[in-house]
Amino acid sequence: MANVRLKGKAAVITGAATGIGRASALRFGREGAQLVLADIQNAEGEAVVQAIAQAGGTACFVRADVGRRADSERMIDVCVERYGRLDILFCNAGITLPKLLPHSVDDEINRVLDVNVKGPLYAARRAIPIMLGQAEGGVILFTASKTGLVAQTDSPVYCASKGAVVLLAKALALDYAARGIRVNALCPGIIDTPMLRRFADAMPDPAAAWAQYAAAQPLGRLGTPEECAAAALWLVSPEASFVTGVALPVDGGFTAM
Ligand SMILES: NC(=O)c1ccc[n+]([C@@H]2O[C@H](COP(=O)([O-])OP(=O)(O)OC[C@H]3O[C@@H](n4cnc5c(N)ncnc54)[C@H](O)[C@@H]3O)[C@@H](O)[C@H]2O)c1
Repeated sequence: MANVRLKGKAAVITGAATGIGRASALRFGREGAQLVLADIQNAEGEAVVQAIAQAGGTACFVRADVGRRADSERMIDVCVERYGRLDILFCNAGITLPKLLPHSVDDEINRVLDVNVKGPLYAARRAIPIMLGQAEGGVILFTASKTGLVAQTDSPVYCASKGAVVLLAKALALDYAARGIRVNALCPGIIDTPMLRRFADAMPDPAAAWAQYAAAQPLGRLGTPEECAAAALWLVSPEASFVTGVALPVDGGFTAM
């Protein structure tokens, strides 16, 4: 294995079956991390495990609905049981709710907040005492969004959930800065993943919506899951050892406007 920036590190990645989580799992695996991949899509998650194994890496899949506290805690426990430690927690799973607020019913609002906010919160709560007990501490990374930094139309609950994750990262970063745990947020812009494809397909003219997404970026194109994975890798690696409490846009310049 040529690149081993995460050699000896045990990591949990949520939402690892597709999109940004999948690309991050493949990248972290190539960098030598021992991985627990958590998701609700079993077949896709197992396929990522196989791909990592074929490339010489180490990973297992845990079915976990991060909207359920017990599942979020269990995936952390599996990492410790299997690898003896937890160095990296990457809470990446997320869902959207492209609806105006008066059209959003309680169950939809609760589900977005459960998956996007309470999931990371419960996982971090389980992870922090474990990391504090390790001489090397640990690193926590949350996938927020550019919509956690600037608002977008038609998705108020999603925006609120991602804004909460940005401040959760900053608050935890301050609480544990002196105790060996770094906490950051990754803020993707418009990234070509299954989530975005579903979002575009729900529009009256999906092809026009897709073209508009690319045109809206200063860089003139969509981002890729691999570009997000590269930023995530840097944030969780020792190369970012002086970086904590950051909400890093990976957005083709979108939030510079
Ligand atoms: N794609 C974008 O343009 C974009 C932009 C900004 C932020 N994000 C964020 O990036 C993250 C990853 O999104 P993506 O674009 O890769 O989407 P995606 O839909 O391709 O991947 C999300 C993954 O999370 C999993 N997941 C969903 N609900 C889950 C749950 N309750 N428990 C466990 N796993 C669950 C899905 O099965 C899927 O594998 C999300 O938090 C999303 O909000 C995406």
